[in-house]
Amino acid sequence: MPATDDFTVTPYAVEGNIDYDRLLDEFGADPLTADQKAQFPRPVHQLVRRGVFYAERDVDAFLDAANEGKTHSIVTGRGPSGPMHIGHIIPFYFAKYLQDQTGCLVYIPLSDDEKYLLKDKPLAEIHEYTRENLLDILAVGFDPERTRIVVDTADADVVYPLAVAFAKEVTQSTVNATYGDPENIGLSFYPAVQAAHLLLPQLVEGRHPTLVPIAVDQDPHVRVCRDIAAKQRYDVSKPGALLSKFLPALEGPGKMSSSGGSANIRLSDDRETVFEKIRTHAYSGGQRSVESHREHGGDPEVDVPYQFLYYFFEESDERVERLAREYRDGSLLSGELKEIAATRIADFLDAHQSRREELGPVADEFEQYRLRKSERQTARQQVGYANTRLFEERTTHDN
Ligand code: TYM
Repeated sequence: MPATDDFTVTPYAVEGNIDYDRLLDEFGADPLTADQKAQFPRPVHQLVRRGVFYAERDVDAFLDAANEGKTHSIVTGRGPSGPMHIGHIIPFYFAKYLQDQTGCLVYIPLSDDEKYLLKDKPLAEIHEYTRENLLDILAVGFDPERTRIVVDTADADVVYPLAVAFAKEVTQSTVNATYGDPENIGLSFYPAVQAAHLLLPQLVEGRHPTLVPIAVDQDPHVRVCRDIAAKQRYDVSKPGALLSKFLPALEGPGKMSSSGGSANIRLSDDRETVFEKIRTHAYSGGQRSVESHREHGGDPEVDVPYQFLYYFFEESDERVERLAREYRDGSLLSGELKEIAATRIADFLDAHQSRREELGPVADEFEQYRLRKSERQTARQQVGYANTRLFEERTTHDN
């Protein structure tokens, strides 16, 4: 387990000062190379260009299929434990961008079961967040023809049979070694559920390259799933992964998080709140006084407003480079940089929120993204369930 003296990264805990390169050695993933970046559809997304997505597993197979016009898919999901922050939505906007560029299939699981098992919150509250988070994901604007969304407890007819099949391939000692000792038996089982998510596109559409864009905390789930796929008991290839660094917490450094009590920027924050949070909480790499800043300059590498722009919110390389230069030479002040970052993030959230407001009732919107009956049957059949129901549906005992 990647728990060292100074940092920990698992799906259930991210702590300390993360050494992203050392993490790759521990996880056994590879750095994303310049050649691989060049194979991404153009214009290459800033998350890839700037190395926020910095590591990979089997990305070549996905890129080859995308470039040859063959079936290829993305799986990226959300554990609905609370309101989403700007870090959570990044993989979804990236998936949307790739879908627009290459027409890839996008599968989006929501693991309400996982978050119920992990957090001290009633199921009713988790379900409220599931509906809320779903609206944010729908606001991204995925193509309903090429996108499927599954909610673990609402789509248990397909998720559960798959998870049971995959659970048989994973030992308890693998779970303990990968995640640390789980708090309850539900969390021992959950890796099989996420494996079901990651293999679902192939079980529905046939064997093809899948890519999972996630922050590094989710990589242990990918590893467990790849081990299952490697056994070749099912007609699937190992899913690939594209691993990102974390959008930092406002107080920097470390991961923007919805737990732990630190301030974050929520997708529902209005302009005023975004400006207030950045002005009062964002860690600055500037000097204490204007005079000293003009003389010595600031450090964009540790400046959280700059990092927000660099990670995602400023598309133009020319502009981010200019901001870094002017910050370093002292001509751009911390306060000015904060205003620029707040403006960009508030503009992004304005657009996101107005798309969200245009949506109809969540159940109606969700409907068009759900697995079709035949897709459910195909996936179940692929893991060995017969195409007929075990029992016919009877309604005689309704009362
Ligand atoms: P969750 O809900 O914790 O996080 C959702 C996604 O956001 C990423 N993420 C971040 N990215 C950048 N900066 C941050 N500060 C940051 N914080 C979180 C996470 O890595 C994740 O990609 N188990 C998953 C949900 C899930 C899933 C899946 C994800 C279920 N099935 C299949 C991918 C593929 C979870 O709890 O993510």
